[in-house]
Amino acid sequence: MDTAALKKELVDLVASANDMTTLENVRVEALGKKGRITDLMKTLGGMSPEERKTAGAELNVLKDEIAALIEKQASQLKAQEMDARLAAETLDVTLTTRPERKGSIHPISQAIDEMVSIFADMGFSIAEGPDLEDDFHNFTALNFPLGHPAREMHDTFYLPNDERQEGEAQKKLLRTHTSTVQIRHMLKNKPPIKIICFGRVYRSDYDMTHTPVFHQMEGLVIDKSTHMGHLKGCLMDFVRSYFEIDDLPARFRPSFFPFTEPSAEMDIGCTRKEGGLQVGKGDSWLEVLGCGMVHPNVIRNCGLDPEEYQGFAFGMGIERLAMLKYGIPDLRTFFEADTRWLSHYGFDPLDRPNRATK
Ligand code: PHE
Repeated sequence: MDTAALKKELVDLVASANDMTTLENVRVEALGKKGRITDLMKTLGGMSPEERKTAGAELNVLKDEIAALIEKQASQLKAQEMDARLAAETLDVTLTTRPERKGSIHPISQAIDEMVSIFADMGFSIAEGPDLEDDFHNFTALNFPLGHPAREMHDTFYLPNDERQEGEAQKKLLRTHTSTVQIRHMLKNKPPIKIICFGRVYRSDYDMTHTPVFHQMEGLVIDKSTHMGHLKGCLMDFVRSYFEIDDLPARFRPSFFPFTEPSAEMDIGCTRKEGGLQVGKGDSWLEVLGCGMVHPNVIRNCGLDPEEYQGFAFGMGIERLAMLKYGIPDLRTFFEADTRWLSHYGFDPLDRPNRATK
């Protein structure tokens, strides 16, 4: 048995295998079930015990050596393949922008980016929910009982009745607020919960200050100890950071929402003169958002125990906050897709969302 000659032959074969398919063929030829080394192993049975001992050891060493060589060759070939792909598939991302064709970031997207950056710093994560909703998530679970007058205030767009729908709870509608995401999130996740959510909402209404579609931001914090003080601190920090005014005055007025108790509306300070409005310390107040402690019924409707869990929620209109910060006078222009408006009020896509740095 000439293992030295076989070794040389196999080593050459491995070295000359220039692609993975050839290398695999070499492996089968050397180490496969009917391979050269395997064949030799089979002849051990016919040898004398003495011969078998030395030949067996030699063959095992050879087998290990060849296997290691094949593995090394394979990793070299893979690295070469990767280099070739990297060279062939490169994309030159250093191309300059074309100023004459540059798009801009819509003020809604800009406002969302700024809000995300503020709430992310406070440890909130982002949740989502569908625009097409049902009565359960939009109303019932949020503690709006059937026939409750607050339902009428939402000017809901209902979808045509579907005969397969079994009852009121399945009735399809376009969500009238992002509070639906509170329900969806609590049904699927265990506290502690600390989320924000952005999205389109729909109400059948159209005038200077109302459009049938607009955007809302929702926040929800649920754990065992969060209280109204946390709500106030969180939202004061938010408005001051968002408007980049460190001493921006804020106040909370009692209000009503079926899904929070107590409920409040938050006002920020402003000055109004000659039809204009400026956010900041002044002699007037401006409502910016709704909020409150999540109602025990809502917590219960989501399968959690209100004796154990509590927390707060808030919701605000994104257009409204964008109009105030960027000085955009008419809500309806947000949805007209007028490129002149966009190039005036839009933001440079290469800028980072501008916000106060503390
Ligand atoms: N969903 C309410 C609205 O659309 C806002 C809100 C959200 C109020 C969360 C309280 C808590 O007006």
